[in-house]
Amino acid sequence: GRKWTKICSLDAELANRTVLIRGRAQTIRAVGKKISFLVVRRLSATVQCVLTVKEGLVSAQMLRFCNSLTRESIVDVVGVVTTPTEPIKGTTQQVEVQVRKLYCISRAVPNLPINIEDAARSEEDIKEAEMAGDKLVRVNQDTRLNNRVLDLRTPANQAIFHLKCSVIDIFRNCLRSEDFVEIHTPKLLAGASEGGASVFKFDYMGQPACLAQSPQLHKQMAICSDFERVFVIGEVFRAENSSTHRHLCEFIGLDVEMEINEHYFEVLDIVDRLFVTIFDYLNEKCKKLLDAINKQFPFKPLKYLQKTLLLTFEEGIKMLKDAGVEIDPFGDLNTESERTLGRLVLEKYETEFYILHRYPSTVRPFYTMPCYDNPLYSNSFDVFIRGEEIISGAQRVHEPDLLTARAEACGVDVSTISAYINSFRYGTCPHGGFGVGLERVVMLFCGLSNIRQTSLFPRDPQRLVP
Ligand code: 4AD
Repeated sequence: GRKWTKICSLDAELANRTVLIRGRAQTIRAVGKKISFLVVRRLSATVQCVLTVKEGLVSAQMLRFCNSLTRESIVDVVGVVTTPTEPIKGTTQQVEVQVRKLYCISRAVPNLPINIEDAARSEEDIKEAEMAGDKLVRVNQDTRLNNRVLDLRTPANQAIFHLKCSVIDIFRNCLRSEDFVEIHTPKLLAGASEGGASVFKFDYMGQPACLAQSPQLHKQMAICSDFERVFVIGEVFRAENSSTHRHLCEFIGLDVEMEINEHYFEVLDIVDRLFVTIFDYLNEKCKKLLDAINKQFPFKPLKYLQKTLLLTFEEGIKMLKDAGVEIDPFGDLNTESERTLGRLVLEKYETEFYILHRYPSTVRPFYTMPCYDNPLYSNSFDVFIRGEEIISGAQRVHEPDLLTARAEACGVDVSTISAYINSFRYGTCPHGGFGVGLERVVMLFCGLSNIRQTSLFPRDPQRLVP
């Protein structure tokens, strides 16, 4: 029943009080034979604990025990808080703890594959140290991901996953306030929902089966069952056989599907309100997290408008052509032209967040509704942050015969999705929705360079462990 104090709350108000703290041994520095400094860390807070050999304070034996501690071991410290006259360098807390008792709760191995202080350094810090003649260790991405449990202990990495959690919170709260209901869709499916190439196949009790590439078919079937507005938060799987900075084989999909009364712009309105709310919240309420990320991975705040910019695909093509980019007006945009368009949009409209809509029908999935006025185009859209796609969405075909014809034309094995197609034979409201890649949102909002940084234990073509 002793009272524990968190390292982050150690301050001058606790001066002269005896506290009990738990944390990791970050560094141990012996000064002569009578004094040692032990920096104890919990998350991003650090405090200097001082051991002084003296009658009534610390025994010589305890000092030896302290000096033999390994980095990252979990320790409990009982000590008295003091306030030194000089500012303390290298710790977040500006008080010291004069140690009375020290326990090692769990010992780390002596040779860690990653030193947390090295892993937490910014590129700028490393360069500065190198200029000054020090050689600092640069921890490369593979070493980080191979030893992710250690890598995740850095302040920036902690912040990334707290921020990711906040995005989910706001996504959920915002949609709940707009009368959406959260549903859960199966991840074990009989057929592919987004085309055959990027699907993981497996044996399901003797039947061929797939891992869900998205909740697409079942979120639409929920609309057929009169759940007027739904959303899904969950893992989705893509057998992406190329290693890029923005593709994972498993990611979190934030999916939305809703009835449409008159126009698919109703869906775009939700995208606008949802994301402006998310960005505003992150900027206003998550400053500490953003600062922690910025410290290691510096980035400029996202530029976005309070009413999201809406451009047609044709307008986008024209902007690219005017800038001298050769482009097929009915083809899809490749990564490079998406980036270029992002730069052009930023120059012209001063935003790094925008919606591009009315894509050519041929570059969209079979379930996409063609435009009523010109079926060469479709009621579909992509959404971009800093020139990279984070969302794709559309109004859906809710007419079963047209849906079958479109599926066949796109080479989809209709027999594997007959239950889906039949769902539209019992009367269905017009509807539409979209799918968001959560890891991409976090990566691009924070200007990070690799999507693996925003997945706790990322899965890519080369990586199935840890
Ligand atoms: O563009 P996608 O494939 O669209 C769908 O899944 C549709 N069912 C959505 C809809 O409702 N019409 O995927 C949606 C989003 C992409 O915009 C992207 O942000 C993300 O999911 N995404 C990936 N993220 C990480 N790794 C991958 N391999 C991804 N593939 C797509």
